[in-house]
Amino acid sequence: MIKREAIQKILEAARIEEVVGEFVNLKKSGKNYKGLSPFTNETNPSFFVSPAKNIFKCFSSDKGGNVVTFLMEHEHFTYPEALRYLAQKYNIEIEEEQQTPEELQQLNERETLFQVNDFAQKYFTNNLLETEQGKAIGLSYLKERSFREETIRKFQLGYGIDKWDAFTQHAQQNGYKKEYLLKTGLSIEKESKVYDRFRARVIFPIHNLSGRILGFGGRILVSDEHKPKYVNSPGSVIYNKSQILYGLYFAKNAIIKADNCYLVEGYTDVISFYQSGIENVVASSGTSLTSDQIRLIKRYTPNITILYDGDAAGIKASFRGIDLILEEGMNVKIVMFPEGEDPDLFVRNNRTADVIKFITGDANDFIKFKTRLLKDEAANDPVKKANLIRDIVETITLIPDAIFRTVYIKECSNILDIPEQTLMNELNKILRRKFKKRSNIPEPEEIPPVTQYQHIQQVGLDDNKSEYQEKDVIRLLLNYGMDDIIFEEKDEENNIVNIPVKVARFIVNDLKEDDIQFHNPVYQLIFEEYALALEKDYIPDDQYFINHTDENISHTAAHLLSSPYELSSNWIKNRIFVPIEKENLKYSMETSVLALKAKEIEHQISLNQQCIKETKNEEDILILLEEQKGLKIVSRQINSRLSRIIIK
Ligand code: CTP
Ligand code: MN
Repeated sequence: MIKREAIQKILEAARIEEVVGEFVNLKKSGKNYKGLSPFTNETNPSFFVSPAKNIFKCFSSDKGGNVVTFLMEHEHFTYPEALRYLAQKYNIEIEEEQQTPEELQQLNERETLFQVNDFAQKYFTNNLLETEQGKAIGLSYLKERSFREETIRKFQLGYGIDKWDAFTQHAQQNGYKKEYLLKTGLSIEKESKVYDRFRARVIFPIHNLSGRILGFGGRILVSDEHKPKYVNSPGSVIYNKSQILYGLYFAKNAIIKADNCYLVEGYTDVISFYQSGIENVVASSGTSLTSDQIRLIKRYTPNITILYDGDAAGIKASFRGIDLILEEGMNVKIVMFPEGEDPDLFVRNNRTADVIKFITGDANDFIKFKTRLLKDEAANDPVKKANLIRDIVETITLIPDAIFRTVYIKECSNILDIPEQTLMNELNKILRRKFKKRSNIPEPEEIPPVTQYQHIQQVGLDDNKSEYQEKDVIRLLLNYGMDDIIFEEKDEENNIVNIPVKVARFIVNDLKEDDIQFHNPVYQLIFEEYALALEKDYIPDDQYFINHTDENISHTAAHLLSSPYELSSNWIKNRIFVPIEKENLKYSMETSVLALKAKEIEHQISLNQQCIKETKNEEDILILLEEQKGLKIVSRQINSRLSRIIIK
């Protein structure tokens, strides 16, 4: 358990734009920052961060909240994991006792697997740098490959001792349970013997975006036909290799700066590039590239340059990569290394300046690349040539943006010397075919147009639940609680005087007078906090709730504080809406409170109705009917006040 005081400290220290900025490329936009949503696959940025309010809001996924919510959504951290992450980032001490073996077992599984991997990485690195065998075999191999010690330390490389169970033994002696050694894949059980997966190999840890270790790759040191060159961690609850890119943790800032990402095939390519100063590089590490991986890059840049070997496998892989990247609406260039040479070798054999010259100068867009490769093959064969054209047009149809498609068709027409119209016809044919296939899938329901006063229209939409109305009242409290609204009153001499009343005071008093309770327990808690504070003549501000140590309150507050915008699915509309609500605060507040009361009465009427149906005693029924009459009168009164205000 993390102490309340520590939670408070962490939440106060954390700057949301700094934390989110680690994962999303944010650009300043007025008082806020904006970027591409890390939760969806969008091309127009609709992800906003407000440093003033310490919250984020994502319009395309409708996620929003404070810094902790962001980490929980994005990194899939639990609440304590997110707090620990922040504590570490902001150097805040959390008092936690040394973990006993029992406590170790209780930690949730993901956290445990991370801890096991962390322990293993330290062990492997220690082997490499401090043991005789590691230095003689592992370190000398890496040095042979020109990896410098600072690079080795940065990428946390290691060495697995050439023994059946050196790691397994060491880990168990330190309290790590077999169950987790097996779940991370660091150990393997066979015929009731447990042994190490990574033996006599140099080890490459694979990091997630926050630098924690998801798994490992181990490279053999002497070539042996009977053994695989690499052994990798198996998938686990923390490691899904189709959703990570090797090196992205180290590369992300450089990718943002360069506005381009180099994509290579292997661990050693990434490290060599990085060491030579080209840091915006990641690898798909042996698996064929996936859309998830491409979207990871898209968070930081829309530009990818594929750097693959010029062998058959590399070419095939790059073709697949091109299509996937274009489908994501991103730009792709391709550089092929001469056969027998890979990025790692190329960097080692050339000066960095020349490497940069080569990878920028020789970068081809995909049309040039594909035609160049396929043209020779098809030279005098009309059938092959037709296939080549179709192949390239097929790739162009994957581009979501029609304007870009047209540009590429033009280029293709020039290179292949085929009339643009012919290519356009072919393109349209393919598009139509695709559209037909897709149109079998029902379109998502259209979002109804939003008016400024949607919160009113919602009255009566959902019959028994007052969730919407409760939410709206709490939202107004949080957003405008400290603002003044002006009531006009007459003094003794019949002069009109303006009396300012705080929004919070008006709402709290009004609802307390009618004894309204919120059905949603979190709203009720927030309401009570306001009531309590007001008794002490004090109004808590939005940061008080956003940084609240009760997880539910801070989540809800952060969510509602970003939701004046939520009323519309469109940012432009919102910009119009917000000032209107602020200007008509009195109106918004009165209607919102009345709507909640109307809802509550409606609720009571239906409860009463139920009682009338179930009651047998005639006398009771008469009492209930009388009550029902009263309730209906009140309901009518409230609703007519409501409609008077709305029409006014
Ligand atoms: N790979 C793998 N298993 C193998 C071979 C390769 O998982 N048996 C993955 C590794 O992630 C490797 C990548 O595919 O990094 C690229 O393979 P390759 O080019 O053969 O390895 P390099 O990393 O380039 O290693 P080296 O430079 O030492 O040849
Ligand atoms: Mn290689």
